[in-house]
Amino acid sequence: MCILESERLILRRLRPSDVTALAVWLGDYDVAKMTARIPYPYHEDHALDFITRGQGNDHVFVIERKKDGVFLGEITLHEDGEFGYWLGKPFWGFGYATEAAGRLVTHAFTMLGWERLNAGWFCDNPASGQVLAKLGARHNGSALRHSAARGQAVLCHDMLLTRADFLRKQAA
Ligand SMILES: CC(C)(COP(=O)(O)OP(=O)(O)OC[C@H]1O[C@@H](n2cnc3c(N)ncnc32)[C@H](O)[C@@H]1OP(=O)(O)O)[C@@H](O)C(=O)NCCC(=O)NCCS
Repeated sequence: MCILESERLILRRLRPSDVTALAVWLGDYDVAKMTARIPYPYHEDHALDFITRGQGNDHVFVIERKKDGVFLGEITLHEDGEFGYWLGKPFWGFGYATEAAGRLVTHAFTMLGWERLNAGWFCDNPASGQVLAKLGARHNGSALRHSAARGQAVLCHDMLLTRADFLRKQAA
């Protein structure tokens, strides 16, 4: 089983007991609307289905705070090289997303041998754009993308992160 650790965080597999945290934090429209795939309203049934599909997947991680085991959010590396993440709203603004994404990306580049990753951020979500920029990702075009929670297409900025750019940023 793959567990990743960083200074303040543990990235671990999903567990059945995560259902409440998932439903509570993703039941917040401000979180769901910034993602492409998460529906709104989001109920425990959605969470149960996500856990059933994701708990055997090595690339789906719960973001847990090391010091107290609190469930902060989730981060996934998709088969096509796209990664996505979210945190419950009380946990925004502490650098957790940058730390979690940095750890996942390090894993993808060093242990899994990936060369390129990508992620998108909706034009009204500059915080996520900043997370990606801090990793070393570069703008790679913009296009409308469907947001399940909003039920409409929103302008999305695509970001490309190469192994070389990530290493350069880490060294800077
Ligand atoms: C986006 C999200 C993951 C960020 O999590 P976080 O832990 O607060 O992010 P971090 O603290 O690591 O970094 C956020 C950065 O954005 C900056 N930021 C925050 N709000 C901003 C704004 N309105 N405009 C520009 N930058 C902003 C912060 O200052 C910080 O940058 P800094 O470290 O250079 O100061 C979180 O807000 C979230 O889960 N949102 C809902 C779901 C989502 O957006 N998922 C991503 C989909 S692409």
